[in-house]
Order: sequence, then structure tokens, then C-alpha cells
Amino acid sequence: MKKKIEILKKEKNACIMAHYYAPAEVQEIADYVGDSFYLAKVAKESKADVIVFCGVGFMGESAKILCPDKTVLMPDLTADCPMAHMVKEGKIAQMREQYSDIAVVCYINSTAELKCQSDVCVTSSNAVKIVKALPNQNIFFIPDRNLGRFVASQVPEKNIILNDGCCPIHADITSASVKAVMEKHKEALVLCHPECEPEVLELADFSGSTAEIIDYAKASTASEFIICTEDGVGFKLMSDNPEKKFYFPTPCPVCKDMKLNTLENVLRVLENEENKVEVDEKVRERALLPLNKMLELGK
Ligand code: 13P
Ligand code: SF4
Repeated sequence: MKKKIEILKKEKNACIMAHYYAPAEVQEIADYVGDSFYLAKVAKESKADVIVFCGVGFMGESAKILCPDKTVLMPDLTADCPMAHMVKEGKIAQMREQYSDIAVVCYINSTAELKCQSDVCVTSSNAVKIVKALPNQNIFFIPDRNLGRFVASQVPEKNIILNDGCCPIHADITSASVKAVMEKHKEALVLCHPECEPEVLELADFSGSTAEIIDYAKASTASEFIICTEDGVGFKLMSDNPEKKFYFPTPCPVCKDMKLNTLENVLRVLENEENKVEVDEKVRERALLPLNKMLELGK
């Protein structure tokens, strides 16, 4: 399968992009592996005609919005991020009415329709920087309450209004399950994704995006880490640091949508050019504005 994928990639001038939560065998064959911000930048700069995006719906959609002339394929079009939909109808309009100067800051884990109603997109690796850079005092942060709360703790000078959305996988990581691992491995540092609940983030020695967690573990002189995010990051952590130990809380957090990105599916979509990501042109043009603003402010 790997050989066939290689041949098809050359034939079609295609590249494979994978998020760190994709299965290990998919990360292995990918041309680019990274966090959401890195993958959005790479998609925009790519010279490929075809991008096979091994992630979830909002990631493939963002790539298509940024690169309308490229064919963007997803190994499984049903791979979705439940949090991307978690803003109640009418809520954004209501906030805009309530605060005349409000900026709607939209986590990239969101549908194109939500991006269309937003001023700027962010990812977990640039949210603090971008919120600080905005001139607005009032910020409506959608859809993730946990990343929103994390940003609010880092930017106390602004009024950050939270929305009640969250990632079900990170929300399932309990402080008790993390404390149980801490008890067994007393020297281990706790590294958390900001999508975790506040009582878990309180236990963290470091909080950051998937790429920031990976960079932190590599640079650290510590040799044991408790990882509070999806298990896919384990592949890169262990290949970068074979001498270090990584533990996940029990049950191990798994995003089943990310695991729909299998080698079989990658090969099939490359062969048949099926599962094309399509975005209505009017929606694309509007959703592009907050994504481009993110790329500019996040530089
Ligand atoms: P990152 O931007 O940190 O890779 O996170 C994406 C995501 O879906 C986290 O659950
Ligand atoms: Fe969405 Fe959570 Fe899966 Fe990330 S881990 S893609 S936020 S459901």
C-alpha cells in the first residue's frame, strides 16, 4: 500500500498532510505532519495539485478555503469534530448586539458557517498572541470554553466571553485519572492541551498545542511525561525521544474521527480522487477573511 501511495503521489503531484492525532501508519507516510496552525500554513503554501488531508472535517474544509484551486481529498468525509458545531444559532448575532466593539474569535475547530460570522480564527498555538494583538476589549470566544478560559487566564486585561462548547475527548480526561498517573510516576511532568477542563489544566507543568507539547518534551531535561491529549501524539513523542517515557491517563483519550484516516482510505481516495472537499464559493470567500487574518496576525 505504501508503495502504491508513493507512485500515485508522484503521478498526481499530490501531497499528504496529517494531524498528530492521525494513526501512526498515516503519520509515517505523510509529507507534512503537524498541529492545526502548521497544517493550514503548509496547505496555503503548497505547490501540490492534490492535497490528501488526514484530519477531521474542519481541517480539510480550511485547506479548501485557503486553496480553492487545489483538489482537497479526505480519506473519510464522515471524520468530523463534534466541537466544530457547538455554537447555538443566533448566539453570535446576540453578542454583537450586546457589545458594539466585540471581536468574534473563532477557534479553527469550527464549521465554515461559523467562520463566516467571525472576525478572526485562532488555533491553540496562536490564540493568546492573536487575542492580545486585537484592538477590541470585548472578545466572544467560540466554540471551545476551555481554550477560551485558558486564553482569558493569559490575557486578563480583556473581557473574554465564553461559549459553552468543548471537545468531548479532552473533557473526558478527569483530574482523578491524571492524579492516579502522577501518583505512580512522581517525577513525571504533566503536559496538557488547553482543550482540557480547568481542573486538569491546574495540574499542568505546561499547556500548549499538540506541536508545542511535542517541542516541550523534546527540549526538556525531564525523562518522564504525563500526556493529557489524544493518543496520536504518542507516535511523534516516542519517535523523537526513544529514551524518554510517556504516560497517558486511563482510559487513553482517543478521537475516533481522527482514526478514520487509514492507509486503505488514503490509497482509495488517491486512486479514485473521491471524497473531494467542496465549499460553496460565497461561504468560502467570507470564511477566508478570518483565516487569512489568523495567518497574518499569527506570523
Ligand atoms: P492542535 O491545533 O493543537 O493540533 O489541536 C487540534 C485539535 O483538534 C485538538 O483537539
Ligand atoms: Fe475535535 Fe476533540 Fe477530535 Fe480534536 S480531539 S478533532 S477537538 S473531537
